[in-house]
Amino acid sequence: MTNPAVYLETFGCQMNELDSQLVHGALRRLGYAFTQDPDAADVVLYNTCSVREQAEQKVWSRLGELKHAKHDRPHLVVGVLGCLAERDGLDLIRRMPVVDLLCGPGELDKLPTLLDNALRTRIALAQAGEHQRSARQAALQGSTSRRSATLAAAQDDLELLDLSRAISPTDHNGSAYVRITRGCNKFCTYCVVPFTRGAEIHRPPEHIIDECKRLADAGVLEVTLLGQTVNHYRFEHDAAVAVGGVVQPQKGRSYAGGHRRDPFQGHRVTTFADLLFRIHEEVPALQRIRFVTSYPRDFGDDILDVMRQCPRLCRYLHVPVQSGSDRILKAMNRGYTVGEYLEFLGRARAALHQPDLGRPLMISADVIVGFPGETEDDFNATAALLENARFKSCFIFKYSPRPGTVAFDRLPDDVSEADKRRRNNHLLAIQTRISDDISRELIGETFEVFVEGVSRKTLKRQGLSHGQIRKTGGAVAITVGGRSLDPHAEAACATAPADEGPVQLSGRTEGDNIVFFNAPDDPAPWIGRIVPVRITQADRLSLHGELAPTDLTRG
Ligand code: SAH
Ligand code: SF4
Ligand code: F3S
Repeated sequence: MTNPAVYLETFGCQMNELDSQLVHGALRRLGYAFTQDPDAADVVLYNTCSVREQAEQKVWSRLGELKHAKHDRPHLVVGVLGCLAERDGLDLIRRMPVVDLLCGPGELDKLPTLLDNALRTRIALAQAGEHQRSARQAALQGSTSRRSATLAAAQDDLELLDLSRAISPTDHNGSAYVRITRGCNKFCTYCVVPFTRGAEIHRPPEHIIDECKRLADAGVLEVTLLGQTVNHYRFEHDAAVAVGGVVQPQKGRSYAGGHRRDPFQGHRVTTFADLLFRIHEEVPALQRIRFVTSYPRDFGDDILDVMRQCPRLCRYLHVPVQSGSDRILKAMNRGYTVGEYLEFLGRARAALHQPDLGRPLMISADVIVGFPGETEDDFNATAALLENARFKSCFIFKYSPRPGTVAFDRLPDDVSEADKRRRNNHLLAIQTRISDDISRELIGETFEVFVEGVSRKTLKRQGLSHGQIRKTGGAVAITVGGRSLDPHAEAACATAPADEGPVQLSGRTEGDNIVFFNAPDDPAPWIGRIVPVRITQADRLSLHGELAPTDLTRG
């Protein structure tokens, strides 16, 4: 068996994107090749999401499409990774016999072995002419038995997957994710994540800082720290366990978060504020440090102090509120009231919103409409909250009952689809107006913009509709389809635009506003840099501007 070709497609959140990058790196080191064409693949892997039914539907339809492919290519191995694999487990294989391999997010370190076994079995079966029999392999954490504290602390082989992360200058476009916490202990009643991702586990600060340094050495300018409740990070050094000389990740414990510095700070505990400060100080090459997703209740003043003190910590927060009704927040088990959420917003803005210094604080959120029992009054309270909070953007989701959650078991999904849709559209209209207003307030200002690539508009003009452009060495590689993570795989290369007219570049401000501007000449040298852009036009989704004078030396 020589160099099987893998097609890997990712659904869901940033955590999944990072997992896919780790899987990609691990398999590439083992000699697997990657392709962007599922029809040319020996292995098709879907890294899946289970957060809403709609997210699962996408995977089901992809798997449905594979039935014929498998008939024509009996050696094909189909693997489902990620949260759907974990949530549905063996039922998934029963429902979709096309699937050979299941691997939950907590077992990804085992994927190479599973895949190797599946490939060998599949080839043997194909040679024997037994097309119908499966090469089934599965590694699931067992969604109902979240791992115990000792097991999680001592046996977290997953940490080795993160530690072995392959980082090379061609693996990124200047920006990278770094996991700081796995799992979640909050158990919001609607949410599958505590079941699919397991118990909350914090990575040792040394591992995180080392990873940031290695990324910076490879040319990364921006890191986004990842955790489901990222600001809940806390590592107790005196409770740390070392196995084979490697400090192990640590199970999260409940502690009185709050607005003051941790009393143990500087001694035996690394809080989230400490971690931010250390990354900022110890990895000066990182120009931007951001983090998602924040939980409203754990946001202490210590974090705000560090953010104000450290200029390279971005003035951007994503803090889902979910509802504007205390009754619904309680039923969701969110652990805060609307008043407490608004108090947090006020505190964050007082500390960090400095538009006169060119540093407005941008806050985004998530909201769910149609949670069980949500009345018109509850909904109106959410609408009022949106007006009051003035989020830069807000993702609005219709409640989707998820098997295995408390809400699914105990609360009837009693808001009609029509009401969910109406409420969703109503909130979208409010948020559109607010996002539009906030964008317009930025016209005339100059912001530092991290240039991510050529805009979709330009790519479309060049006939690369869903393309992605990356800087690879001196050339600019355009990967069509945006599906493969391998910048070398079947990449079309261009150093200059194929047609007339200016090339439009796109990037982001520190507040996560998307900015478009025209490249003055060859686009390649601008990509992956931070440049000043003066905003001339704005709408709810994006800003448009022009390059302010620069010597192209930053970044
Ligand atoms: N850890 C993050 C959110 C992770 S899931 C947090 O707590 O903020 C991302 C978003 O999906 C959530 O904020 C929520 O708004 C939405 N979501 C999660 N489960 C959902 C469900 N069952 N139905 C609809 N939306 C859901
Ligand atoms: Fe889900 Fe709540 Fe955890 Fe977020 S905090 S991942 S919504 S359980
Ligand atoms: Fe989806 Fe799992 Fe992320 S359910 S949102 S991929 S943690």
